[in-house]
Amino acid sequence: MAQRVQGTEDLYGDYMRAWQRMTDVARELFDAYGFDAIETPTLEQVDTFVHGIGESTDVVRKEMFRVVSGALFDDLLARGSEAHLKPRQRMAMRPEGTAGVVRAAVEHNLVPQGGAPAKLWYAGAMFRGERPQRGRLRQFHQVGVEWIGASDPAADAECVIVLMEYFRRLGFDSSTLRLTINSMGDGTCRPAYREAVRRFILDHADEMCEDCIERAALNPLRAFDCKNARCREVMEAAPKVDQALCDDCRLHYGQVKRYLDEAGIPYVEDPRLVRGLDYYTRTVFEVEVEGSGVGAIGGGGRYDGLMELEGGRPTPGIGFAVGFERIYLALQAQGVAMAGEGSGCVYVASMPDQRAAAFSATLALRNAGIRTEADYQGRSLKAQFKQANRLGARICVVLGPDEVAAGVATVRDMTSHEQVQVPLAELASHVAERLGA
Ligand code: HAM
Repeated sequence: MAQRVQGTEDLYGDYMRAWQRMTDVARELFDAYGFDAIETPTLEQVDTFVHGIGESTDVVRKEMFRVVSGALFDDLLARGSEAHLKPRQRMAMRPEGTAGVVRAAVEHNLVPQGGAPAKLWYAGAMFRGERPQRGRLRQFHQVGVEWIGASDPAADAECVIVLMEYFRRLGFDSSTLRLTINSMGDGTCRPAYREAVRRFILDHADEMCEDCIERAALNPLRAFDCKNARCREVMEAAPKVDQALCDDCRLHYGQVKRYLDEAGIPYVEDPRLVRGLDYYTRTVFEVEVEGSGVGAIGGGGRYDGLMELEGGRPTPGIGFAVGFERIYLALQAQGVAMAGEGSGCVYVASMPDQRAAAFSATLALRNAGIRTEADYQGRSLKAQFKQANRLGARICVVLGPDEVAAGVATVRDMTSHEQVQVPLAELASHVAERLGA
């Protein structure tokens, strides 16, 4: 039997309905905040991610799924190197949405000089070659927003506010959500801070793991995220970014916090929150659900250098993304059914000689926008009623010889078991009215 790839999931039934609800809630909420939908390709040139996310990040070095066409694959194996490939031949499945959206904003000049910011939201599958475990998949689903062209700290605060409102609307108990924030500095103050952390790691090299020593050279701030308990202990004493911020960054961060306070959003400051993607500058944030054991359900931050890294003009930006699979697990743990009710339907039951009349009635109901099912397996009336119950039908329309001879249908309410006869010409409007009531 063919099997799905490890770390991927099929979305169907309640799980699919939950993903649809997650995007529906996003559409309504993000629309109110002025975000327009965008869909960028799942496949991008590798360079889009290398430039944006950063060459030294785990996401780019270890987790990106690289793609070549079948013909090139053979050629690649024969040559044993990809050095000869043109940039457009080196592709990857997107590990996240931000780099692609910003690439699109540059390519289509979505933020013209002196023009209004671009406010975009997206929903779709992302791919990371991580070791699969609960809440960590190789193909997972994100909903995210990118607000490109705004440097105002109010934009940072609004991103956090809309994120927390999103979780509230999905049904989370707000008291269990833990919002962590930090400022990572910018091009003025971060280089010196990175250097201070690099020196700290090298001074404590004998106490830290191989990976962290490697990180010292490539990306020292990642050492704050090391899984190794001893490294975490040592890093407790490492220089903290809040001591290293330049005046502009300190001011910006202070204003973000003031806006959050004004909006009554509780948060925890964590100067070790560094996030795994290199493009972040200044504000970063993450949300976890206490006791859920699934890690962050959402995160984001400011990326004032990313437009330039993708070949555009210097343009500030900020955004976030949330992970569907983790949200689903965390909500389940809180006893919240994310899928909501199944949509129910109307069922048209008939005897074999009245099949043609049932066919027409089914079409008429569907044309009136009513979700309608019927029998396509030649089952008995009794079996059709059972099927109607199984499908959660609220109304059953019965077409037997007497009904068809009289030009009517019997409309049966599946809850109260009341039934009335309705002229066939009025069936759709009658049923629509009943469903609306
Ligand atoms: P991220 O923190 O890498 O940020 O991912 C956002 C969310 O996606 C995480 O909080 C988590 O819920 C979910 N997620 C990430 N990796 C996995 C995985 N392997 N399996 C299941 N869920 C996962 C970003 O992706 C940034 N693009 C967010 C952003 C937008 N920053 C600015 N704009």
